Amino acid sequence: MQQELRIAASVLAADFSCLGEEVRAVSDAGADWLHVDVMDGHFVPNLTIGAGVVAALRPHTTHTFDVHLMVSPVDPYVEPFAEAGADSITVHVEAGAHLHRTLQRIKSAGKRAGVALNPATPAHAVEPVLGDVDLVLVMSVNPGFGGQRFIPSQLGKIEALRALIDASGRAIDLSVDGGIDEHTAGLATRAGADVLVAGSASFAGGRAEYPGNIARLRAAGEAGRTASHGTRTGPRAIGAATS
Ligand code: DX5
Ligand code: ZN
Repeated sequence: MQQELRIAASVLAADFSCLGEEVRAVSDAGADWLHVDVMDGHFVPNLTIGAGVVAALRPHTTHTFDVHLMVSPVDPYVEPFAEAGADSITVHVEAGAHLHRTLQRIKSAGKRAGVALNPATPAHAVEPVLGDVDLVLVMSVNPGFGGQRFIPSQLGKIEALRALIDASGRAIDLSVDGGIDEHTAGLATRAGADVLVAGSASFAGGRAEYPGNIARLRAAGEAGRTASHGTRTGPRAIGAATS
């Protein structure tokens, strides 16, 4: 079933010299969640932050910490991020051979469990674990960097996952991550996403702009949901919208 729309500000695009202030500012600006990208320089070609940084940021907001682990192997990092203050922990289908075991580990740590799909991974890869997850995250760029362009082919995957989630009858969040801005937000929600992860678009222009940035993303996302009412055959104008 589809949930209310949430905007998850990805701190990857924040000013790293003052992350605590940035997290406070974007929380006050109306973001619903803080999305935290953890990269290991192995599963993805970039290094970002560890559990210690999440622990340091935890006192700066009461908002949900939506931790996205782009890490392999991932199992040794579940408990450290849980203890650091993550509310949900999302792992990649492609990161290891024992996804079900990893999800059980996240649940055992008392956290919401998420599964992420790279652009080349099909929707049906999550079907066997749908009963074990609270969130499915569709990567709409290749993971590793912020500021990339939205990959239009992922809209069909969002539609397929929306149908799988609805058929499951479970309250699973459907999140889309990468290249989300005022133009692509509505396409993603029209296809069925109910969480929009946005880095560059949330943190653009300095702190005075954050409230407007979040409000525009939310308005665009809500407009896409309205457009999807009744039918979900929508995202056909994507070529024009993303060119
Ligand atoms: C990419 C990360 C994203 C990233 C999105 O690997 O998973 O969360 O921060 O950045 P933008 O919104 O700039 O595409
Ligand atoms: Zn992410």
